[in-house]
Amino acid sequence: MVNDKEKLLEQLTGVDSSKLNYYVELKKRTEEVLKQNSRLEILHQLTHDINIDMSIQDILERAFTKLPQALPCDFLGLATIRGEQLVLKAMMPRDFCQVDRFPHHAPSWQVIRAQKAGVFDPQPSYRSHLRHNPAYPEQLREIAIAPMFERSDVIGALLVGSVMKPAYSEAELSFVQHLADQLAISIQNARLYKQVSRAKKEWEETFKAVTDPIILIDTDYNVLLHNDRLPPELMEIWSRGLTDKCHDRLHGLKRPCRDCPVEEVKRTLQPASLRTQTDSGLLFDLTYYPVLNEESQLVAITVFMKDVTQKTKLEAQLVHSAKLAALGEMAAGVAHELNSPMTVIIGTAQMLVREIQGGKGLGNIEELEDIFNCGVRCKRIIQNLLTFSRQDQAPVTDTDLNAEARRVLSLIKYQINRSQIRILEHLDPDLPKLAANGPQIQQVLTNFLVNARDALNSQERDDKVIEVSTTQRVQENKRWVVLSVRDNGCGIAQENLSKIFTPFYTSKEATKGTGLGLSVCLGIAESHNGRIEVESKLGQGSTFSLVLPLENP
Ligand SMILES: Nc1ncnc2c1ncn2[C@@H]1O[C@H](COP(=O)(O)OP(=O)(O)O)[C@@H](O)[C@H]1O
Ligand SMILES: [Mg+2]
Repeated sequence: MVNDKEKLLEQLTGVDSSKLNYYVELKKRTEEVLKQNSRLEILHQLTHDINIDMSIQDILERAFTKLPQALPCDFLGLATIRGEQLVLKAMMPRDFCQVDRFPHHAPSWQVIRAQKAGVFDPQPSYRSHLRHNPAYPEQLREIAIAPMFERSDVIGALLVGSVMKPAYSEAELSFVQHLADQLAISIQNARLYKQVSRAKKEWEETFKAVTDPIILIDTDYNVLLHNDRLPPELMEIWSRGLTDKCHDRLHGLKRPCRDCPVEEVKRTLQPASLRTQTDSGLLFDLTYYPVLNEESQLVAITVFMKDVTQKTKLEAQLVHSAKLAALGEMAAGVAHELNSPMTVIIGTAQMLVREIQGGKGLGNIEELEDIFNCGVRCKRIIQNLLTFSRQDQAPVTDTDLNAEARRVLSLIKYQINRSQIRILEHLDPDLPKLAANGPQIQQVLTNFLVNARDALNSQERDDKVIEVSTTQRVQENKRWVVLSVRDNGCGIAQENLSKIFTPFYTSKEATKGTGLGLSVCLGIAESHNGRIEVESKLGQGSTFSLVLPLENP
């Protein structure tokens, strides 16, 4: 025991020390250890107190309230390197001084260059760059400065100043360095946090800026996120939902909707679409986009809802205008078609009247049959015209393309023949029927024919020919029927081929063309899951084909 004490005594104070010295030294050491402990405690508390969303000024403020318990601290400053300059980013007290720019001989620069903490006596020459606030009459007499690192780079310096002197020994300086390290980490975290929050905010703003509703759901139909853009009508159902399931929120249903494409998206990992109508008649095109993670696994589905009510209405109007235009084209032909049977009816009827008045009795039966037949013919023509004009209501039924072609030709032949154009018919007698909207098919053919006529009329030639044909083909493992109109008219320049389906594109003078014909034809073809093919050579002629699938999926 005595030996131990002597040893300790030796270690602590050296051989010559007295007992008194020993106790004094021991007390000092203990105090030192306690102080060190309390400093660590403060450091610990500080890191605990600093929140991720604090500004640098907030962080310094927090440190400034705690530090005096650990070491003399009348001033706390934080300088950061920005480009070539060192800037005092924050300080406590906030208005302690003003620094324009740290000159290169400033102690903070020295510390940064040496990457080593140091204690400085703020000489007047050192302070030349400082404008001290006279509200703090006591001058700083010692400053401890520690470099701040981000990884291995120095990003700035922490300054702790005291009006006392001496204020900072080795132990205090090492504490300041610890503090600087800790603050550097906190500041870095705060900066990263800010970056992440900014990115998050940007993304949220982008999300919210879209005026169409967007909903993010997980693979189990749960709504994860939405951009608050639902129309009021749907919003009401939304707020009534008891679960987070999208079918509950959007439709008030307990199970997924019958035609919901989510399962399809899960299977194919490809976007899928769907059109729905709300109770009040709003039309929405819904597109389901798969959200994949880095391993290409499906983690969520973005549902984009586009209100197409207005667009659909406009499209319908467009179709209507085009229909009127085609109807106008037909009117002349129809008038001509009606003219001859009506002439026969009236003539024969007059003859009968005269015969009866002349007392010749009721004439012969053939005259009455003429009237009857001509009446039937008129009725048929008028019926064709009526079905054509009521095409929106027409149901999709088994349709014979040949019959439709003949119907159109009967109405419009006169118009075309008048222009000295020969019409050839090559209708495949074995053409199978297909599910289609007959009057719409008629409209497509009418447009093709009128365009072909215009293309021929714009040219000077003798043998003007339009050929109407129907054929079958097998393509992409599917059977198709094709209705084509070929002409040997002006043809279309290569650079205009891409434009002809655009609504209102026309090469004709204003009184002749509306530019709606082909765009409407395309709409009709697509609504039948078909397409329109064009082959054309400038100066030689064009072929327009309506290609329709025989079996629809
Ligand atoms: N058979 C054709 N031959 C040459 N050009 C054609 C033919 N069919 C269509 N086009 C071109 O396509 C354009 C658009 O046709 P369309 O949409 O029917 O509008 P419009 O007939 O009112 O001009 C026409 O103006 C014409 O330039
Ligand atoms: Mg046209």
